[in-house]
Parts: sequence; structure tokens; C-alpha cells
Amino acid sequence: MASEQTADHLDGEEKTVATTDTNDAFSGFSGLDLQGTTLADLQLQRLRSTLEHVYAHSTHYREAFDALGVTPNDLVSLSDLARFPFTTKADLRANYPFGFFSVPMSEIARIHASSGTTGQPTVVGYTRSDLDHWANLISRSLHVAGGRPGMKVHIAYGYGLFTGGLGAHFGAETSGYTVIPMSGGQTEKQVQLILDFEPDIIMVTPSYMLTILDEFRRKGIDPRSTSLKIGVFGAEPWTNAMRAEIESAFGIRAVDIYGLSEVMGPGVASEYASDQNGPTIWEDHFLAEVIDPATGEVLPDGSYGELVFTSLTKQAMPVIRYRTRDLTCLLPGTSSPFRRIGRITGRSDDMLIIRGVNVFPTQIEEQLLRCEGLTPHYQMEIKRPHRMDEVTIMVEAQADLPQADHSAAAKRLAGYIKTTIGISATVQLCAPGSVERSSGKAVRVRDMRPKEMADATHC
Ligand code: DLL
Repeated sequence: MASEQTADHLDGEEKTVATTDTNDAFSGFSGLDLQGTTLADLQLQRLRSTLEHVYAHSTHYREAFDALGVTPNDLVSLSDLARFPFTTKADLRANYPFGFFSVPMSEIARIHASSGTTGQPTVVGYTRSDLDHWANLISRSLHVAGGRPGMKVHIAYGYGLFTGGLGAHFGAETSGYTVIPMSGGQTEKQVQLILDFEPDIIMVTPSYMLTILDEFRRKGIDPRSTSLKIGVFGAEPWTNAMRAEIESAFGIRAVDIYGLSEVMGPGVASEYASDQNGPTIWEDHFLAEVIDPATGEVLPDGSYGELVFTSLTKQAMPVIRYRTRDLTCLLPGTSSPFRRIGRITGRSDDMLIIRGVNVFPTQIEEQLLRCEGLTPHYQMEIKRPHRMDEVTIMVEAQADLPQADHSAAAKRLAGYIKTTIGISATVQLCAPGSVERSSGKAVRVRDMRPKEMADATHC
């Protein structure tokens, strides 16, 4: 049963967003049918057949299981998964390009790849059935975001090898939405098409949504005047402060969508518009664990650690205990029986250690959004000219911040960073538009410390 709810925490004019209760989210469109069994039983049955499938068809997994002396028969209950080996990005890279596929090439219907910032791309493959499951989960994700078939979806995630654009596209199109495949970039055109085509939903990285917002303002167009009602944002960490800014600027409801190429793409977990309290993991398709990143020990729900996923329904490239590097915790379900992930506060591999202090770029962002007169467009540069790390944060000032107030605003931000994060940083305010924009995931950090030192400071 769907209900209508106004985005009542938004200032001024309100737009109406459909919300969803549990039964509605899992019936009809979602493909979830427990057929009289429990979720745990369904997961166990799917996990067993996934383990059997990879043991029979993947050289990597056969060798990795044999090395630990386990076979699929050792899985009696879900907790036995802890006996099985982890999978890392390095394992995928070592099998570049197609060595991780567990079906013959002739059954691969689509290939995507994750570029990453270093090294070889990670290649992922999908069978026709994998694509159908993915489409179902996008459909489910849009539904809990308040979307309904018949609505128009403007997709500004990048198309191509990145899973964002085509993943969202296929799911939305096959479940009855009208898709506008805009892709990332061409910001002026994004604004034009939002005005002309009147989409109800936008799917885009939150940082690029802020760039689109700038363009609305540059053109003198009120962003609240558009047809948009819902934003489905993901592919990078973002904060509640960014959510509040986007929601009030556009008069939309903003929800979080999480995913990663190696596990599927967007739609591994998605947030309900009705409670906006973190993405719900689609646990009928993915088994989640949180582990201590140093020891690999499985941690109880609610503990903070590295998120690990095992796919339960994938054929072409199932992953067993894939270490995401994303740091978060598992929370009980609220809108559904499935668990949620807390906010992703960072990745264990983009955690910086600056003068001995662990720092995530999102922490800097939280602080700068507390400062009036500053925008969320920033870049952080870390150098080590002598023996000490030096941090410079370049932040764009809002266009209407008088020059005379610049130095006070910079000092305020440096003060917040010092007192809350514990590092000293030089804050430089720069002109609107001068911080490099990305049309996809934002690049926030330029670590210019000598290579061997920079490496040593990453987890
Ligand atoms: O970014 C898939 C995706 C596309 C998700 C569009 C959502 C929307 P990758 O390029 O493989 O795949 O990057 C995956 O991005 O491990 C996280 O670190 C980060 N990430 C993805 N979604 C979120 C999110 C796609 N909602 C990596 N919040 C993941 C925080 C996210 N980080």
C-alpha cells in the first residue's frame, strides 16, 4: 500500500512524494517471494548453491577454498560462511580480464568495469538473469524512494563501463519508467533538459547535483521551480548536511543508493524515502557482514568495521565475502525486515593519516558545511615539504560572501577542523567555480606526499 507524504521538513513550497510500507516494497514489482520459508532459510539455500556454483566453475574459488580446506558441504548454517575465504580487489585484478567469470563467455550478456584510481580496471560480467535481478533491485530501489512506473527519470550517472548509468537505466526502463539517459557532464544541458523534459526523479552523484545546483543559480532559475520530486543519490559518500542542502534547494526528497561494481552496481542497498535512515540492504540477494579490517574477525551488528558482501543470486561473477573497504556498521531494519547500512563514513583505503590522526574527507565536509558563506566545493591537498604533513583546504566561497569576510570564514573553518578532527589545516577561500568539478565522483584529495610515505599512511 503506498501512501503520500509531503517533504515536510523542507522550507516553503512542498512537493508530494509517495512512500511505501513493507508489504508494498516486497510484493509485485520486487520479485521477492519467500514461498513459505524464512529469509534466513532462503539465504542459506541461495548461499549453498552459490558456493557450489563457484567451487565447480571458478578456478580462483576452487583454489581458495582448497587452500583453506573448505568445501561447500561445510556450510551448514549461515555463520559457517566465516570459514570461507575473503575476496579482494587484488584477486579480481589478478584474474583480469575475464578470469573471475563462473559461466562460459557465451552466457555473458554485459560487461562493466570499474576504473579505480590506480592499476588495472576491475572487470565484471552479467548473464541475462543477473541483469534481470539487477533491474528488479533498481525497480525496488526507485519504489522505496517514492518512484512509481510512469514517472520520468533523468539519469545523470555516467554511461559506459561505469555501472551507474546503464545499471539505473535498464532497471528504470524495464519497470515502466520513462528514462532520460542524459549521462554525466554538459551541465548547462542538464539544466535545460530538466526544465524542458520535466522529470520527476533525478539519479546522479550528490556532488554533481551540487554542480547542477550552481548552474541553476548562475542562470538565475529557481531550482525549486522544477518538476523534480525525488533525487536518488549515490556512488560516493555524502553527508546529512549535503542532503539538507539539496533537499531545500530543489524542494525534493533526497535518498541514498549504495552499490559497487564488484558486487553488482547501484542498488545493492537503497534508502526508504519514508525514513531516510540509511540504505536497506537487499538481503535476499546479498549477504552482508562487517569485519574488523585488521583481523578479518566478524563483528556483531552495530559495530563499526569493513563491509563485506557475498552475492546470493549472481551467476556470471558471484563474489564470496568481497571486502568492499567501505567503513560502516549494520543496523536493524526499520521499514523492512532487512538490515540497513549506516552512513559510509569513508573507505579503509582512502582513510588518510595526517600527523598520526585518521582523517576521512567526509569529516572535512561536515565541518565546512557548518560554515556560513562557504560552499561544499573543496579540495584538500596534503604535502610533506619537510618532516611534517601540511594540509591545505581550498574551498569556494559563496558568491555573495563579501571579500572582507573571507578571512574570518577561513579561520572559522580551520578552527572547527582543529577542534573536531584534531588537525591543523590552512584554509584558502577561492572564487566561485575555481575548484575543479567532476561530472561523476568528486575528487576531494590530492595527496602529494612522497609516494612511499603516502602509501604507508593508508590502511
Ligand atoms: O559507484 C555504483 C553506484 C553507482 C552506486 C551509482 C550508486 C549509484 P563503483 O564505481 O564500483 O560503483 O564504486 C563503489 O563507491 O565501494 C563506495 O565506496 C562508493 N559508494 C557507492 N555508493 C555509495 C553511497 C558504484 N551511497 C564504491 N555512499 C563503493 C557512499 C558509496 N559511498
